Amino acid sequence: MNPATQDKIRTTLHQLFDDARFDHLKMTKGMAKSIFRPMRPSDFEEAYLSISQDQGEELSRIIKERKFKNIVEFGTSFGISTIYLAQGAMETGGHIITTELIESKAIKAIENFKSAGVSELIEVRIGDAMETLRGHDNSIDLLLLDGWKDLYLPLFRMLEPNFHKTTIIYVDNADMADSRKFLAAIGQDGKYLLQPQHNGKVMMISIK
Ligand SMILES: C[S@@+](CC[C@H](N)C(=O)[O-])C[C@H]1O[C@@H](n2cnc3c(N)ncnc32)[C@H](O)[C@@H]1O
Repeated sequence: MNPATQDKIRTTLHQLFDDARFDHLKMTKGMAKSIFRPMRPSDFEEAYLSISQDQGEELSRIIKERKFKNIVEFGTSFGISTIYLAQGAMETGGHIITTELIESKAIKAIENFKSAGVSELIEVRIGDAMETLRGHDNSIDLLLLDGWKDLYLPLFRMLEPNFHKTTIIYVDNADMADSRKFLAAIGQDGKYLLQPQHNGKVMMISIK
């Protein structure tokens, strides 16, 4: 990667993480909206809810080491994780399809990809992942699951035909209740190897 691109990525990520440090306030605001009803993604339209820097670097490393090219992400938010994915894909000649339900977040993410100089590697699909990824006809090397947790299982089942023997499914917030139900369900298949990382926050799934 040329030093100018490296610099743009570093600067953009720095600004985004700086902005994300107010997430606890935005999350409190979101939760207050959902006291009398179930939470909705739109309650958190201002919150990043991003993966950590360590996770981002890990994802980028996985892509480079395994020479992954076909990357799919569920849950773009403002694009922090996607920029890390692009950092890896830049080295492998890969590309990313990422999908976000909230249009305002997706639009901001697209601006962030431009600032980071990685737009050409990323296709952003705005809408419900169950629709935007329906009929996906390419094989998937890396699937990052980082959207609403109750969709992990149906989305995984929908994309399962696109997995191959070296596919990795990287599950964020694996310790949340809906994620645990998802992991229990696919654990029963006997086809997958589940490896917890980051003290259980992440589950790395590979094919046995
Ligand atoms: C945890 S955040 C993603 C954080 C992002 N991966 C990062 O690390 O920077 C989850 C995102 O998933 C989005 N989302 C929730 N339900 C969705 C759906 N059905 N389809 C697409 N995106 C969805 C939310 O709006 C939210 O922005």
